[in-house]
Amino acid sequence: MCLYYSLMPSHSSGGATAKKTFCVQKVREDFPILGTHTRAGKPLCYLDNAATAQKPQAVIDALSYFYANQNANIDRGVYELGAEATELYERARKKIAARLNAASPAEIVFTRGTTESINLVACSLGGSVLKQGDEILITAMEHHANIVPWQQIAARTGAAIKVAPITPAGELDAMAFENLLTERVKIVAFTHMSNVLGTINDAAALTKKIRARCGAKVLVDGAQAIVHGDVDLQALDCDFYAFSGHKIYGPTGVGVLYGKQALLDSLPPYQTGGDMVVKVSFETATFKRSPHRFEAGTPAIAQAVGLATAFDYLDTLDMPAVRAHEADLLAYASAALREIKGLTIHGNAPNKGALIAFTMQGVHPHDIGTILDSENVCVRAGHHCAQPLMGVLGVQSTARASFALYNTRAEIDALVKALHKVNRMFNE
Ligand code: ALA
Repeated sequence: MCLYYSLMPSHSSGGATAKKTFCVQKVREDFPILGTHTRAGKPLCYLDNAATAQKPQAVIDALSYFYANQNANIDRGVYELGAEATELYERARKKIAARLNAASPAEIVFTRGTTESINLVACSLGGSVLKQGDEILITAMEHHANIVPWQQIAARTGAAIKVAPITPAGELDAMAFENLLTERVKIVAFTHMSNVLGTINDAAALTKKIRARCGAKVLVDGAQAIVHGDVDLQALDCDFYAFSGHKIYGPTGVGVLYGKQALLDSLPPYQTGGDMVVKVSFETATFKRSPHRFEAGTPAIAQAVGLATAFDYLDTLDMPAVRAHEADLLAYASAALREIKGLTIHGNAPNKGALIAFTMQGVHPHDIGTILDSENVCVRAGHHCAQPLMGVLGVQSTARASFALYNTRAEIDALVKALHKVNRMFNE
C-alpha cells in the first residue's frame, strides 16, 4: 500500500501554486539505485543514510547535463559558456540562501563539506580571536569533525577545550552547559543533531543562551539536521552553520558554510590562491569579500549546481509529510528494535532524528553489519567518527540504522528479521 500524504504548500520557491505531495513508493522511483543490487531475491535495503544519502535522478541528470552542456570554469572566461557556468554556480548559491533563509547569498560559502567548513572557521576565526586562557566549548556528542579542528587550533593558540556532558538519555546536560558558559569561552561549537544518538539540540535556544551569558561565537554542525529538519538560518541566529551536500541527496564534494556576512568579511582567508583575490603583486595581495574570499581555486561547480537541484527536488515534495514519514520510521523501528533480546539503543532523547545506534549483547557491531549485509541490509558499524562519545557510552562501537525519506516500514521489517538472524547465530 502506498503511504500517501498531501498538503497544499505554505510557501514555494518554484511553482507557488503546485500541489506538493509525498508518496514514498513514488519517491523511491526517483532514486534509481534503490532498484539495483537485488541479491538472492532480496532488494537493496539501504539504511546508512546518515553516512551518505542516495541521489534522485534529478540530481544525477543535473550533473550529467552540466558536464555535457554547460561546463566551463567560473569567474574567468569572457566567453558565453563561462558566463553561463558562473551564472549557474551563483544561482545555486542564491537558491540555497533562499531555501535556508540566509540574509544574503554572500553568506553561503561553498566548501567541500561539513569538515572543511568547520576547519575553515577553526582556522580563520579561531586563529584570529583565540589566545592563551581562552576556551572553546563543545559537547560530548560531537563528531570528530567538530572536535579535531578545535584541538588543532587550541594547540596553536594556547586555548583550552571544554566539553559539555550529556545525560544518560543522550541529551545535552543543559545545566552543565550553562555553567560552562563563562567569559573565557570565545567559541561554542555544537551539533544540531548527533550522528550517533540522533538527539536534536535546540540550536536557537542554545545560541540565545550563549549570547546572554558570554559573547562567544556560535558554530552549529548541521550535517545531520539539515536532512531531518527545516533549517531557518536567521531564526537560528548562529554565527556559522556547516553542512554537506551528499547527506541531503546532493553530490559528494560540495558543502556549505553559512556565516553572518559582517563576520565572514572580518575573517582572514582560509586557503589562498586564484579567484579569491582582488589584486596580487609579488609582495602582497588583497582579498575579495565573502563568499569569494573563502573559495580559493576552482570550486566544485557541477556539484554546487547538483546540490541546488537536490533542494529543488525537495521543494517538489510535501515536506511536512516527509517529516511525518521520517518520524513514523523512527517510531516504528525503535519499537521493533526494543523487542529484540539483548539489544540496547544508544540515544533516547525525546527530540530525536531518524537514526538508531544500537549494540547487541555478545555480538561485535562489525558482525552485526556483516550478517545484515548477507541479508542485503546496509547499516554502518563502527565508532561513527565519534570515538570520545563511544567512551561516554561505554562501548567501543555500535551498529547504526539511519533513515531517509525513501525508506519504508517494509525495510525496517527486513532489518528486524536480519537482527533476529544475528541473535540466532550468536546467542542461541
Ligand atoms: N558523518 C558520517 C556518519 O555519521 C560519515 O556516518
